Amino acid sequence: MDVERTLSIIKPDATARNITGKINTFFEEAGLRIVAQKRLHLTRQQAEVFYAVHAERSFFNELCDYMISGPVVVQVLEGEEAIAKNRQVMGATNPANGEEGTIRKELGVNVQENSVHGSDSLDNAAKEIAFFFAESEIVG
Ligand code: CMP
Repeated sequence: MDVERTLSIIKPDATARNITGKINTFFEEAGLRIVAQKRLHLTRQQAEVFYAVHAERSFFNELCDYMISGPVVVQVLEGEEAIAKNRQVMGATNPANGEEGTIRKELGVNVQENSVHGSDSLDNAAKEIAFFFAESEIVG
């Protein structure tokens, strides 16, 4: 199995409720290592560029408003099959549809305020990691 890196974002609904440590425990118990992490407040431009793939969706403006409504924690997670593993740990986009034991099912509020983001492919993981981190900030 390949060791991969994926980008994770702990979103404003989670930082507001002070549950970033609880979310990190889900990652670590699944065998994902947090090899980079920083807390920041996204600018509107950063949110719009990061989510540009959703620019045509009806929820795009609302999504950007939400992502800049409070601090986020951006992270690089490393481990075997990290991209798929993280998506499994996160659960379905809509917490209402998630499997028991997943982050979004246990902690998410609704389809928008779903507590975490994770890269969906190797290519996107590389792009999303480079969006937030210099290689020197990632310590495996
Ligand atoms: P994420 O995995 O970060 O990718 C895009 C985000 O858009 C998603 O999590 C949700 O926060 C949000 N999102 C997806 N679908 C909807 C929707 N139907 N309504 C509002 N927000 C959504």
